[in-house]
Amino acid sequence: MARARKPKEKESDHPDQGPADQIRVRRMHRRDINRVWEFLKLVFRAVNRNTVEYQRPRSKQRFEEQYDDEGIEQLVFEAGGEVVGYAECAYEVTGSDNWINPRYFDSRGMRPLFVEELATHPDYQGRGVGSFMLEQLQHLARVRGCTHLVLEVAENNRPALSFYRKRNFYKLDAAIFMAQKVDQEPELLPPRPLKRPGEAEPGPDGPHDDPDAPEPDKPQGSP
Ligand SMILES: CC(C)(COP(=O)(O)OP(=O)(O)OC[C@H]1O[C@@H](n2cnc3c(N)ncnc32)[C@H](O)[C@@H]1OP(=O)(O)O)[C@@H](O)C(=O)NCCC(=O)NCCS
Repeated sequence: MARARKPKEKESDHPDQGPADQIRVRRMHRRDINRVWEFLKLVFRAVNRNTVEYQRPRSKQRFEEQYDDEGIEQLVFEAGGEVVGYAECAYEVTGSDNWINPRYFDSRGMRPLFVEELATHPDYQGRGVGSFMLEQLQHLARVRGCTHLVLEVAENNRPALSFYRKRNFYKLDAAIFMAQKVDQEPELLPPRPLKRPGEAEPGPDGPHDDPDAPEPDKPQGSP
């Protein structure tokens, strides 16, 4: 499938910021990168403490690179000029750090829109921003001919999981992180007594300090 060109926002697209009680969506601009990165750090601070996998881009560098990736949509949601939400989606499996197997979807006749991020500012959660962001992504999927929204969510991110389940998301496969406890042994040996000066080194059979003592018996058949 040919990659669709990512329409970049022009400075003149949104001259006014709109009222504070209205959510507006626009495409992210290069000038938003720092602000949105700080926003994502704030939203995911608490979530990432409890999940094995990072729930947002691993580094700011990766986030900056994504801006130039034609296959990724980065949408900023604002109320009164404040960033209250951010959604990101991709029409193809992207990035070298991605573990998604595209054949899983091809063989099932699915053309997914991959939802990479969905984040609402903590002060605005529960006010309809997430639902609006999801509707926007569903709309994009429809107009771009995608058959499903596909995303990954940590099972212990309970609020997000219930948000998706309520909106008819279902589990695709049963990949879960598992761990097994391993018995601990210290890598370093325990302390031992220092020898007194002149004291002989204890051999494997105990102290052996008489140089004229007979050799221990050799095994039979040895030369
Ligand atoms: C999941 C998330 C995007 C939902 O956004 P939202 O703006 O709170 O969503 P809405 O206001 O449209 O809907 C709120 C619904 O989500 C639930 N919800 C999730 N987190 C909530 C929160 N912190 N406060 C209030 N409601 C929350 C509510 O139960 C509510 O229930 P409903 O399904 O009956 O409507 C948002 O909670 C969030 O950004 N969480 C942190 C980041 C995250 O985990 N993202 C998903 C990673 S895969």
